[in-house]
Parts: sequence; C-alpha cells; structure tokens
Amino acid sequence: MASGFRYDEPPSLLIREQALTSDTMPVRLLGMSGSLRTGSYSNAVLETLREKFAGRADLAIYDLRAIPLYDQDFEGDKRPDPVKALLSAIAASDGLVLCAPEFNHSIPGVLKNALDWASRPAFSSVMAYKPVAIMATSRGPLGGARCLEHMRVALESMLSRIALAREVTITSTAEKIRDGRLVDETSLGFACGALEALLREIRVWRTA
Ligand SMILES: Cc1cc2nc3c(=O)[nH]c(=O)nc-3n(C[C@H](O)[C@H](O)[C@H](O)COP(=O)(O)O)c2cc1C
Repeated sequence: MASGFRYDEPPSLLIREQALTSDTMPVRLLGMSGSLRTGSYSNAVLETLREKFAGRADLAIYDLRAIPLYDQDFEGDKRPDPVKALLSAIAASDGLVLCAPEFNHSIPGVLKNALDWASRPAFSSVMAYKPVAIMATSRGPLGGARCLEHMRVALESMLSRIALAREVTITSTAEKIRDGRLVDETSLGFACGALEALLREIRVWRTA
C-alpha cells in the first residue's frame, strides 16, 4: 500500500481540497427570493447569509421587482432591458442562492418568472451548469418542503447544478427572524451548510 493512503478518505478529493484552500479568488454570489414584500423573511435569510459569509463571498441580493412577465415573443436581442440586466448578473456570478417563501405549495410566481426568463435558450442558458443553493421559508410550522422540491425540479430542467446539502426549510419564520436577521441557531446552521456546499461546488468546478 502506498504510504499516506487511507481507505476512508478519497485521495483525489483530498488533493483537490488542499489545492482549493489556497484559492483566494473572490466568490460572487447572486441571491434571489421571489418575495417583494417589505420585511420579507426570505430576504432576511439572504441578508443574514450575506453578512455571515462576508469576506469569503460577495452575496448581492437581486431585486426582481422590475422583471416583466415572461413573453416568448421577446427572446434573444428582443429581451426587455431589466431581463438583459438580470441575465448579465447571473452570467457574471459564480453561483446563485435562492431562498423562496412557499406560495400555494410551490415557487412564488415572481421567482419562477425570473427563472423562466433566465432558462432560455433552453439547455444553453445562463442557468445551465450554474451552481445553486436552494432554501425555502414558511410562516407556518410545516411549509417550505413543497416549494423546495418544485425549485429542485425547475432547476434540474434547466441543467443547473444544485449544491448537495441537507435540505433547508425554515419554518415558523416569524419566531426565528428578529430585526431582519435569522436568529434561530438551528435554521442558521442548515442555511450556512447549504452555502458552504455551494462554495465547495464552485471551488471544485473552478479547478476541474
Ligand atoms: C399567495 C400566498 C400563498 C401562500 N402559500 C403558502 C403555502 O402554500 N405554504 C406555506 O407554508 N405558506 C404559504 N404562504 C405564507 C408565506 O409563506 C408567508 O407569508 C411568508 O412569510 C412570505 O414570505 P416572505 O416573508 O419572504 O415575504 C403563502 C402566502 C401567500 C401570500
């Protein structure tokens, strides 16, 4: 057996991880929630993550208010300017952080609409192979899981890379968010875990 080899650690991954720890390139992340509400809990989660990861990643939270309804008559060069700006921002980012409230057991229309624009042209859009972290919020004690699952299905259809992490559904948000920040340690741990997974995914693909 070669010296230093251990069966419990995949060697190729270890070598790669060592190379990655010296990676000093800034990571540019784009956050989107799909909530336009003042005092949105989902935006509060993104804001909390922006602060937590400052210095390691630059998480810019994108305001989707200006994005018009998707219209297939206006694709390519005919895309409206706010859509072009959104697509440029996605293209320039290393990864996305989507934290959406569950709406009627699914993705809020505002976010789905933005993803529909971003998903074109199909299979070669700015979303194709883009690393994405996903999380969902709900005011109730049980919600979020269905929104998360629908996000996963939609993102897979556009060939995005969902960072492998434990599922993040932040329930009872009114009790866990104070002064615009996620203060519940357990939920924050899960959300940070998803972001760590995203950063790992980005680093791995940068060096692939
Ligand atoms: C149109 C609509 C549909 C909703 N549907 C659900 C739902 O299916 N499941 C759930 O847990 N909460 C549901 N809610 C509650 C939202 O998750 C809650 O209002 C949340 O705080 C909104 O997100 P925000 O704080 O980021 O704006 C719904 C709210 C609205 C306005």
